Amino acid sequence: MKAIELREKYLQFFKEHGHKIIPSAPVIPENDPSVLFTTAGMQPLVPYLLGEKHPEGTRLTDYQKCLRTNDIDEVGDNRHLTYFEMLGNWSLGDYFKEESIAMSFEFLTKVLQIPVEKLSVTCFAGDEDAPRDMVTYEAWKKAGIPDERIYFYGKEDNWWIAGEEGPCGADTEMFLDTGKPACGPDCQPSCGCGKYVEIWNNVFMEFYKHKDGTYTKLKQKNVDTGLGLERVTMLLQGKETPYDTEIFAPIMKKLEELEKIDDIASRRIIAEHLRASMMIIVDGGRPSNVDRGYILRRLIRRMTRHLNKLQIDLAKLGEIIDLNIDTIQNLYPELHEKREEIKQVILEEKDKFMKTLSHGEKEFAKVIQRLKTEGKNVIDGETMFKLYETYGFPPEITVDLAKEEGFSVEKEKFAKLFKEHQEKSRMGSEQKFKGGLAEQNEVTTAYHTATHLLHQALRQVLGEHVHQNGSNITTERLRFDFTHPEKMTKEQIKEVENLVNEQIKRDLPVTCEEMNLEDAKKSGAIGLFENKYGDRVKVYTIGDFSKEICGGPHVTHTGELGIFKIKKEESSSAGVRRIKAVLLPKE
Ligand code: ALA
Repeated sequence: MKAIELREKYLQFFKEHGHKIIPSAPVIPENDPSVLFTTAGMQPLVPYLLGEKHPEGTRLTDYQKCLRTNDIDEVGDNRHLTYFEMLGNWSLGDYFKEESIAMSFEFLTKVLQIPVEKLSVTCFAGDEDAPRDMVTYEAWKKAGIPDERIYFYGKEDNWWIAGEEGPCGADTEMFLDTGKPACGPDCQPSCGCGKYVEIWNNVFMEFYKHKDGTYTKLKQKNVDTGLGLERVTMLLQGKETPYDTEIFAPIMKKLEELEKIDDIASRRIIAEHLRASMMIIVDGGRPSNVDRGYILRRLIRRMTRHLNKLQIDLAKLGEIIDLNIDTIQNLYPELHEKREEIKQVILEEKDKFMKTLSHGEKEFAKVIQRLKTEGKNVIDGETMFKLYETYGFPPEITVDLAKEEGFSVEKEKFAKLFKEHQEKSRMGSEQKFKGGLAEQNEVTTAYHTATHLLHQALRQVLGEHVHQNGSNITTERLRFDFTHPEKMTKEQIKEVENLVNEQIKRDLPVTCEEMNLEDAKKSGAIGLFENKYGDRVKVYTIGDFSKEICGGPHVTHTGELGIFKIKKEESSSAGVRRIKAVLLPKE
């Protein structure tokens, strides 16, 4: 069965059981800045789960476009995806456990014709917040699942909530036995060895978890279910990975034809990230250095890197996008409607990234020159990591180029630094998934560079008496205190804003040099001179516009910053003004 048939059968089945089919919400949530992307079918329905009346009634079904970024670094293996489609059905204070289970069982065994012997299910074992879920257990037994294939687990497996706060409850999960050998005598759905694969999750949402960790009962008892389209398609087709289904197979084949280096993980990353990027763009997302835009940027850049790695001619990318759209436009006709727009955004971002790459290549040449004069023939892990982190220079390219120069590289040291970095950024994206902070490093880096532009712009508009008095950066904004005797006029604020945005538009390169403080002063660099004489300092130069002493880090080109906007100009203390400003994603 193809994915499109599975989707149609699902929606039809629930329609026949009294559900209204509602359209998928965009993958970029509407009116919900607390989350980056729609991560589950229930997300757009939260107000109705909490008791608001839905115009279509109390039984709903849909397919929902979803994107989850916490496992982005795992993509390339045989199962992780960032973008996926979730089929779901909801009871908003209508039916509850028994009826929900009866319908799921009927759909799996009658419509999809999965033999009942292949199904195992799990129920909530109970704790101080909610009792052992015997109602669900009885319902499964009644449906025809024998005792030995009904498992009870605690909150870690059988309780569902999106993030930290919100509607939640015990759930029951359905697993398909793939027929693979058991991993041991204790092999069971929760063991994760791959014998049992989860296919559907029915959440019985009757609680609300508050910020302080306490639970209260919701006004109504709801059912929220989710079935992963790609995964179930794969299982029904007896395929090993989603890349072997018709959703990805044509693109995987095309990549194999075009590549000069054979690497299946890279092919998967390209196919997956390209689809995810298209789905974000079609719903209005654009690359930038903050929030959603940054995830999109990362997806496109990583895809480009892997195209490079396979030595696929980048001029073929347009063709690859076309094929991808043709392949899945039966599922998402909107892709075809916005074909040119999608292509333009991806190709432009690819070009920008290639510029970063060539910038990195120049840096690489400098590194080699330095090492040669020092009589070395090894690129140390720190340098390799700096090339990666500061210039976005892919480590595999460092390795290749090093080889050509007769250099070896400290791969292990690099791998260690890379892992630490990954953990940091994973923590960042997990926080954001929970509605918390953005990717700290990238966002604050952008604000850092914006602060330099602002500082220089203020000096040009107000005069050379302007000096930095304080600076504070969060993922939400920059705050800049500076010496100036009076309130800025509206015109001055606008002028400063325009001047900064002009420099962003010019896409000026940001470069860094180390020198001693005296030389830095002589070079005309501004900044805080509180370090002792003779100290080595870093001087960041932004094109012909700014030169400032600073520890960094900074973006490599100002074009990465988005749109600069001054939100507030106020007094900080006598003779010191304070500006708060933000970077907005480019339209
Ligand atoms: N909201 C539930 C999930 O995402 C169905 O698994």
